[in-house]
Amino acid sequence: MSASLKDTVALVTGASKGIGRAVAELLAAEGAKVVLTARNAELLVEVERGIIAAGGTAAAIPADVTSEHSVSALVLETKRRFGTIDVLINNAGVATFTSVEQTTTDEYDAMMNVNLKGVFLCSRAVLPVMRAKKRGMIVNVASLAGKNSLAGGSVYSATKWGLIGFSRSLMLEVRDDNIRVVTVAPGSVNTGFANKERNDPTIIQPADVAGTVLFALTMPDRVNVSEIDIRPTIPARKGN
Ligand SMILES: NC(=O)c1ccc[n+]([C@@H]2O[C@H](COP(=O)([O-])OP(=O)(O)OC[C@H]3O[C@@H](n4cnc5c(N)ncnc54)[C@H](OP(=O)(O)O)[C@@H]3O)[C@@H](O)[C@H]2O)c1
Repeated sequence: MSASLKDTVALVTGASKGIGRAVAELLAAEGAKVVLTARNAELLVEVERGIIAAGGTAAAIPADVTSEHSVSALVLETKRRFGTIDVLINNAGVATFTSVEQTTTDEYDAMMNVNLKGVFLCSRAVLPVMRAKKRGMIVNVASLAGKNSLAGGSVYSATKWGLIGFSRSLMLEVRDDNIRVVTVAPGSVNTGFANKERNDPTIIQPADVAGTVLFALTMPDRVNVSEIDIRPTIPARKGN
């Protein structure tokens, strides 16, 4: 029998758009109280309103996952509003797809800071809550770019290879406290990621990733689905 998310508290980073939005909406539809975070408050509030209008519970709390101070404030405010944190979805991510010579140091720093440091800061901030209650789940949204090599995406790929290493190691580190860590690695998803407007109904959709995340989250406590690759059935590009 699958576990229910009813009345659990789920913190979703990068919840204003794309995959994070779809995950937040699905978890809310399943009865979770969802904390939505991203930097842009306006988009977050739109998602919050939509969830509440559909009968769910959501709170938009803007934060920058690259800032220790901002992440601490986010976790404090989440605990103040909802009392606890049961689920963390580390989904916020950025990418610039260019050759190494054309990648600026600022672009390099942004990818490393959001895709890796952000996951570290958010995980570190919620773990004391989960350790204290001896229960919790962290889902890290990686990418097939963290398993494949990607010409024109060396830095992005490095962040996702790094994230998979972090995520697998964290899974081993916290499992004895009944905390599960799940790595999800999708291929190309139909979002505006990296400022590309894909709008392609034939590739993986944000809702497909959300459904996969829900599957892992609702397994019985004894089961940690530790890693899931999500591929298009018919690849548009080799390696996807
Ligand atoms: N789309 C794909 O093809 C694909 C494939 C595999 C994996 N992924 C991964 O899936 C995740 C979500 O991607 P997506 O396609 O949904 O991208 P997206 O539509 O561009 O959404 C990215 C989200 O991250 C937030 N974000 C970025 N920087 C942030 C920061 N410093 N602090 C807090 N939030 C921040 C953005 O909001 P703000 O800008 O307002 O902060 C936005 O909500 C990423 O980790 C990405 O690497 C995507």
